Amino acid sequence: MLRFKVFTLVPDLISAYIESAMPLKRGIQKNLLEIQAVNFRDFSEDRHKKVDDTAYGGGPGMVIKPEPLIKAVETYQTPKTRIIFMDPKGQKLDHDLAKNLSREEEIFLICGKYEGIDQRVYDILGGEMISLGDFVMTGGELSALAVIDSTSRFIEGTMDSFESKDEESFSEGLLEYPHYTRPLVFREKKVPDVLLSGHHENIRQWKLKNSLKNTIKNRPELLKLLNLKDLETGFVKEIIKELYNGNKCRTINS
Ligand SMILES: C[S@@+](CC[C@H](N)C(=O)[O-])C[C@H]1O[C@@H](n2cnc3c(N)ncnc32)[C@H](O)[C@@H]1O
Repeated sequence: MLRFKVFTLVPDLISAYIESAMPLKRGIQKNLLEIQAVNFRDFSEDRHKKVDDTAYGGGPGMVIKPEPLIKAVETYQTPKTRIIFMDPKGQKLDHDLAKNLSREEEIFLICGKYEGIDQRVYDILGGEMISLGDFVMTGGELSALAVIDSTSRFIEGTMDSFESKDEESFSEGLLEYPHYTRPLVFREKKVPDVLLSGHHENIRQWKLKNSLKNTIKNRPELLKLLNLKDLETGFVKEIIKELYNGNKCRTINS
């Protein structure tokens, strides 16, 4: 069982998403997952339930005060809690990090707002920071949901077909191959013949080659991290020829 607690000022955002995300609902029903949104405004002792204030030193925007947030977290924290601040200054969320998080028992995701959170909350609670990418959003909720969703997929029993995640982008270091479904022909575009052949080895090789092609086209830097086997190296050479008409692909060869 992996327990998530999301500390947020907009708990409805979290519950609305969970309600419509089947793998998460399934995980909760099967007692594989627990996801709770905690509104840390409820922990404010201020008469008006205030949770933010102006910044010392000046500057635009409000800053989340330490007391209510720390009180909320410490109310639930156990020795097993892994504390994560959703923060653009953090490590970027990726496949490996999500897989690593899926082995935890309890994760707290802390969502900032406004200009961010008083530094003393980070200093006192410790923990780590995770970012969704090199951009700034108005709050941490979308990134907290991205952590919950991507992590939960690694927990056996949450996915309709658990195996499917092993073929998805990044699982083997490559981007995934293209998918097709009915109709067989759509606007004169036909499903590749090999996928209709029933020849498992040819289909496997088509998928591998097209995974490599997608990776070379979209994220060539990923290839450098892989130890390619002979078949894959052969495919890479073919793909580069096809894509670049024999010209050297600077990104891959550099
Ligand atoms: C407007 S942002 C604050 C940005 C902060 N002033 C800065 O420049 O680093 C408010 C909150 O949104 C969340 N947030 C914004 N961008 C994010 C990102 N890329 N990844 C994760 N959380 C993010 C964080 O929780 C942050 O505290």
